[in-house]
Amino acid sequence: MTLFDTHAHYTDNAFHKDREELLGKLLPAAGVGTVVVPGVDVESSRSALALAEEYGYIYAAAGLHPEDCAGAGEAELEEIRRLCQHPKVVAVGEIGLDYYWAENPSKEFQREIFRRQLALAREAKLPAIVHDREAHGDSLSIVREFPEVTGVFHCFSGSPEIAAELVRRGWYLGFDGPVTYKNAKRAPEVVAAIPLDRIVIETDAPYLSPVPHRGKRNDSRNLPYIVEKLAEWKGVTPENMAEVTFENGMRLFPKIRP
Ligand code: NI
Repeated sequence: MTLFDTHAHYTDNAFHKDREELLGKLLPAAGVGTVVVPGVDVESSRSALALAEEYGYIYAAAGLHPEDCAGAGEAELEEIRRLCQHPKVVAVGEIGLDYYWAENPSKEFQREIFRRQLALAREAKLPAIVHDREAHGDSLSIVREFPEVTGVFHCFSGSPEIAAELVRRGWYLGFDGPVTYKNAKRAPEVVAAIPLDRIVIETDAPYLSPVPHRGKRNDSRNLPYIVEKLAEWKGVTPENMAEVTFENGMRLFPKIRP
């Protein structure tokens, strides 16, 4: 089966020792056919694009993450806009709201940077990769302000009701390692409630390793654990789930050409 990892941070320092071997050999050999590497600030967005230029199956997203947007202003937003014009930058991301960490930039500032980047996505006609942690209400209401913009809510953790509204508005939902955790209660309900053609898979590498590798560094070779769990919840075969999520990823990121 060919797998599409729609969210992996291969620019992260956790990969500095073996990035070349992993991206050059190990992932393609494991059936990983396409990977999107999101940026979290200007620097990592540039690094993500550098990886995309080096490896044919890798694509980049450019964006300012809510945890990393402190001090961002016109210059940073302008650079994100510029990067989005590159043929291998296929989305604006990772952007959104994170109300979990007390040391994050203020909620008000996060919302402003989120809105500015949704406006960039609208202008560039690109999908957005949204991070929403403990900020479901505000994330949804801001997304409603930009009806022309769709994309993916990555590592979706909201309710079935929010999932249903996002799907209605044309969004995809991304699922990763936590679906394999024993305490995954909402995810089965959400997955049952949304159509198969709106589900994409992701690792969020190096974070969120699925069981049985929980706690260790994550990479796209762990996607089959996520595929299996989603297939079980949806009552399809893992092969079918892999195929459908691959096609969904291609539809989500129209700039990627086979
Ligand atoms: Ni991420």
